[in-house]
Amino acid sequence: MSKFLLLSAALMSFIVLGGGLKNQNNLKIGAAISPKLLTENEKYREVCLDEFNSITTENALKWSNTRPSETTFDFSQAETIISWALKNNKRMHGHVLAWHQYPPKWLKELDGDSLKYETLLQNHIKTVVKKFKGKISGWDVVNEAIDENGNLRLKEKNENESWQTGSVWHVKLGPNFIERAFRYAHEADPNALLFYNDYSQESNAKKSKAICDLVKNLKAKGTPIHGIGLQFHMNYNTKNEGIINALKEAAATGLMVHISELDIRLNVEKKQDFIASAEMLELQKQKYNFVVKAYREYVPKNQQYGITTWNVGDADSWLIRFHKAPESPLLFDKDYIRKPAWQGFKDALF
Ligand code: XIL
Repeated sequence: MSKFLLLSAALMSFIVLGGGLKNQNNLKIGAAISPKLLTENEKYREVCLDEFNSITTENALKWSNTRPSETTFDFSQAETIISWALKNNKRMHGHVLAWHQYPPKWLKELDGDSLKYETLLQNHIKTVVKKFKGKISGWDVVNEAIDENGNLRLKEKNENESWQTGSVWHVKLGPNFIERAFRYAHEADPNALLFYNDYSQESNAKKSKAICDLVKNLKAKGTPIHGIGLQFHMNYNTKNEGIINALKEAAATGLMVHISELDIRLNVEKKQDFIASAEMLELQKQKYNFVVKAYREYVPKNQQYGITTWNVGDADSWLIRFHKAPESPLLFDKDYIRKPAWQGFKDALF
């Protein structure tokens, strides 16, 4: 009898709460993850297993982790994630091949002509993509090459400037480095889907248009580009019209569309004593619900690459360090309990 009660209780909670986010309407639902948490935290691993069917490397494939020196590679972090993901039938998305942020120290200090940089970039892309050929289905090939005004980033990084600075690749190699990066990746794995990834499309219509123009031009030139990543690092009060505009514009390119780094901030004023109230959590739930619904409505099914959140539990979010303030931007709380945001996301899947 008690066994029967237990079973019915489990069944009821499954019906009420539902299963994980994955496996609804064939939509890929992803998370960017950390190899350390995956190895050390059982709850984290369980949530990754039950809720997601696509996995992105948050930092493991960045130059800062894969390139200890100009001549060497270290794939240990990436391999931890990739072997776990493939063993558990998750699609793997690789992030990132050409980005101007967080270069390793030796690259920051590198002195060389354009040939040296070109050889370095080509060798990096070919080696990394070939290494995971057949394992990584999609790649963010170029990340954040466009600035807030819709121009390709030009200025070289200046220590006194913040996040939005120039791209060393553009400075050293000229604007066509983007096209060549895609070609190198395609040569290394002709079956991988290749993405241009960037942020703020939802709040900056000028930038959104510039990005879509860039990818349309690349496509017109025959560049092997297959998708656009919309990072969607947003706030609970990000305007719905901006979200719709970004999705529609990206879909109109005809390429795959990936919501690639979704998180929804609540502590916009960066208060040090911030605690998320029930009202805030409800607004966040509504925004997650809106984003997922809008994606399903404005991106044709055959262009839906999926929706990926940028890590799993609130305590794992990069935003806490980036803004130096408490934040609760994700679908799970610090103990990996589903938040109202999770329900908002889930409701939008039906
Ligand atoms: C962030 C990571 O989440 C942090 O852990 C790291 O310290 C810095 O990078 N846009 C991107 C991601 O494309 O690579 C960034 O990830 C977040 C913004």
